[in-house]
Amino acid sequence: MAAARRLLGVALMFNICLIPVLSVDRSNFKTCDQSSFCRRQRKFQPGSSSYRAVLGSAKLNADKLEIQLIDDKNQVSLLLEVHGLDGNMTRIKINEVKPLKPRYEVPDVLIGTPRPANLQVKGQDDNTLELSLGEQGHKLLVTGTPFRLDILAGQDLVLSVNSRGLLYFEHLRERKDTLSAKVSSAVGNMWHKVKTLFSSDSEKTDKPSEGDDVNPEGEEVAKAEESKKTEDDEPGMWDETFKTHTDSKPYGPSSVGLDFSLPGFEHVYGIPEHADYMKLRTTEGTDPYRLYNLDVFQYELYNTMALYGSVPLLLAHNIHHTLGIFWLNAAETWVDISSNTAGKTLLGKMLQYMQGGGETPQTDVRWMSESGIIDVFLLLGPTPSDVFRQYASLTGTQALPPYFSLGYHQCRWNYNDEDDVRNVDAGFDEHDLPYDVIWLDIEHTDGKRYFTWDPHKFPNPKDMLSVLKEKRRKMVAIVDPHIKIDSAYKIHNEIRSRNFYVKTKDGSDYEGWCWPGSAAYPDFTNPEMRDWWSSMFSYDQYEGSMDNMFVWNDMNEPSVFNGPEVTMHKDAVHWGGWEHREVHNLYGLYVQMATAQGLLHRSGGKERPFVLTRAFFAGSQRYGAVWTGDNAAEWDHLKMSIPMCLSLSLVGISFCGADVGGFFKNPETELLVRWYQAGAYQPFFRAHAHLDTPRREPWLHGDDNMALIRKALQQRYALLPYWYTLFYKALREGHPVMRPLWVEFPLDVSTFAMDNQYMLGSALLVHPVTEASARGLQIYLPGNGEVWYDIHSYQKYNAPQTFYSPVTMESIPVFQRGGSIIPRRDRPRRSSDCMRDDPFTLYVALNMQGEAQGELYLDDGHSYNYEQNEFLYRAFNYSAGKLTASSLNLNGEFKTSSWIERIIIIGAAKPRSITLNLIGYSETSLEFEYDQAMSMITVRKPSINIASDFTVTLR
Ligand SMILES: *[C@@H]1O[C@H](CO)[C@@H](O)[C@H](O)[C@H]1NC(C)=O
Ligand SMILES: *[C@@H]1O[C@H](CO)[C@@H](O)[C@H](O)[C@H]1NC(C)=O
Repeated sequence: MAAARRLLGVALMFNICLIPVLSVDRSNFKTCDQSSFCRRQRKFQPGSSSYRAVLGSAKLNADKLEIQLIDDKNQVSLLLEVHGLDGNMTRIKINEVKPLKPRYEVPDVLIGTPRPANLQVKGQDDNTLELSLGEQGHKLLVTGTPFRLDILAGQDLVLSVNSRGLLYFEHLRERKDTLSAKVSSAVGNMWHKVKTLFSSDSEKTDKPSEGDDVNPEGEEVAKAEESKKTEDDEPGMWDETFKTHTDSKPYGPSSVGLDFSLPGFEHVYGIPEHADYMKLRTTEGTDPYRLYNLDVFQYELYNTMALYGSVPLLLAHNIHHTLGIFWLNAAETWVDISSNTAGKTLLGKMLQYMQGGGETPQTDVRWMSESGIIDVFLLLGPTPSDVFRQYASLTGTQALPPYFSLGYHQCRWNYNDEDDVRNVDAGFDEHDLPYDVIWLDIEHTDGKRYFTWDPHKFPNPKDMLSVLKEKRRKMVAIVDPHIKIDSAYKIHNEIRSRNFYVKTKDGSDYEGWCWPGSAAYPDFTNPEMRDWWSSMFSYDQYEGSMDNMFVWNDMNEPSVFNGPEVTMHKDAVHWGGWEHREVHNLYGLYVQMATAQGLLHRSGGKERPFVLTRAFFAGSQRYGAVWTGDNAAEWDHLKMSIPMCLSLSLVGISFCGADVGGFFKNPETELLVRWYQAGAYQPFFRAHAHLDTPRREPWLHGDDNMALIRKALQQRYALLPYWYTLFYKALREGHPVMRPLWVEFPLDVSTFAMDNQYMLGSALLVHPVTEASARGLQIYLPGNGEVWYDIHSYQKYNAPQTFYSPVTMESIPVFQRGGSIIPRRDRPRRSSDCMRDDPFTLYVALNMQGEAQGELYLDDGHSYNYEQNEFLYRAFNYSAGKLTASSLNLNGEFKTSSWIERIIIIGAAKPRSITLNLIGYSETSLEFEYDQAMSMITVRKPSINIASDFTVTLR
């Protein structure tokens, strides 16, 4: 929920029928110009870099190159590290040689130390050092003056660093103003003072090393240090006022910025979260894309403003290469995108020569962060799946969701009491609508005290949960990270007594205003705090909870209603003495991490958690699902759900969804139905609604509309085996579940900016209807020489082609790619768990060569036993008139009574006979029907267990 519900409440008091005009109050959020570091960075224009790399200082270990960088403007020296990493990756770090205090390096995001690869010097002249990067034929050129880096794949320049000279690294400096001079003369002293606020356990985990253990080599560097000039201050460097709040900035300016040039690239993607197109646009003349987790009330579409989460990964794609730039920094960050042609630098000319002259399209990307160091991973592809794998090797893959969580979720703010829950639950049975989970928002608690229940409305939560459990359904209850300050509240008392709250700059507990009124914020960056938080989810601590209850973390940006920008003050202090400024974008990830740990622990490590989060960062995919926050019941918001989830998918977060129906406002019935139809084909499928909106359960819109919603839900449930298999592949390979067309058709330029249709896995193309009163829509089916089949009518289409498809209110345009096999469970049931032993239908869609392949992943759906090989992974292969089923997990053990009840082969000629060969049995003939018009064979009751190897032969 967004912050300003109270404001909306006021508006509604004046006239309950008045629909408030929805638009963000932009004045609550900073523009680049109002964020002083962004203003300073951006003022710095492209040109010759004032930095030079002291090539004589180069030190090369097996996998790491170290070089001093000196800024000739102020003689400050930096240390550049280049790491060779296994699998076509490199890491570039730039930090001060001798910072006044350690600069923050982001912990807990990387899943381990990336595997190193050898660097070797291949050549050197006065101003250039040439290195080979790993075994894959990539080369790195380090230019001394002006400093730049260029990466080549063979003869092709793929990426340049600082080629526009925008490296801008604000070194830490001593405070000059009198006030703090009295308190402590140097930043270092202040740092020590702040650190003593925290107990000695701050020493336990990895901390950045103190700057003074790096010994710069070479006289030149020493000289540079001596002649460091004092610089002039600019407004906003030592304190910064926005609205009524002044950020005290005790350590002064510390921002970092760097540019990357991508010759030959016109399409860049990623860096969510923004309510904007999938393809990033140039930010010349507008604000840069902002990455700063914020609770934005009634967010606006089609702009670069920050939203609830951030993943600082940018992807670039052209027909030759896919690349990624992962900027590992958790502070406020802005990203400028510009597009021009290759410059007149030496390398630019070389490039022109190499590519045969003429202007080469080029995209330039400039990253600017308020603090921390420069720590950037270059993912060199060269294919989309290589980049996904490379990024997954750094930050992990999507956690395998429990099976139920891929079903449909029914939420609203709020289901009022136990009777309400019982009635809504019964409504789904009464109207034959499948669903898995009912949700409780903040009003279920005792006065917004999380981990408690309202004693009047929810006196017997276990009885309520037991009723759901009998129906094999679940509940999700909200647990937010703001804690009511109330001495009668156990959670608050424990956190306070353990000294686990975030502190103000003066050392008292930081307090803000949120749902409960005055609230404090647990310091989730502290591992001990996270462990304690996790322990609160055990059944004896969280009274009234049961094993079919899961958790939703909202407001974890964190949202602070009275904070500037509706979040925590940047000079608040966290564990280890770090300012909130440094860790801001990580806070939400830590909340979800600790909550997921809690659900894991309560089951003794056996059951997969389900936790939904609103705020996120790189790596959040490891802890659960993300939704796109407080959208609105408007057609454009429905449209926006696709690019927003595609952008998240591209950066590793596959389990994404948008509130079905729209959170704010009351959707007209047509919009609601269309939203169910679209949501049924998005990974996280949950309806949600604002407290002040009329009820909108599916049966409140007339029988016809309910029937349409039922159909959409049934399509979702029929395809659950396919969804689950895609999530298994996401877990193993890091491939997104929902993907832009270009991922599957990387050579088809016409797909590069398409974000109104997309692929689910490699087999389904989805183009939901997102226009009011639609009579039809333009659909593009890609793939030279490929065929597609409408999954509802089985009509065949040759590709590539764009065609006009007439639609009715029933239409959800979805196409199965010729060459794929999709297992479905077509018997409608009331929840996914009720389908556990249901039979399968195999949908075999033949390509032009009369072939098709597909897979099915199956396990118990809730535990980690798959890690002990307790799963089925089946391969289906149709070729030359034979369908064979075999195992991709030969040692796997998983017993199921599910069998194959039908095989549908689409695009086949009529056979004379169909026979089945099953190991250990003699050949039997199978009954079938043939539909001439659709070239479709239906094989009935082959009655084969899904785990068996078999061959079905068409003659
Ligand atoms: C690395 O890149 C080369 C081409 O530049 C490619 O052939 C190879 O498959 C890539 N390896 C990985 C692990 O991505
Ligand atoms: C499918 O079967 C054919 C014929 O046996 C074989 O040539 C082909 O490699 C198989 N494809 C896959 C993906 O297993």
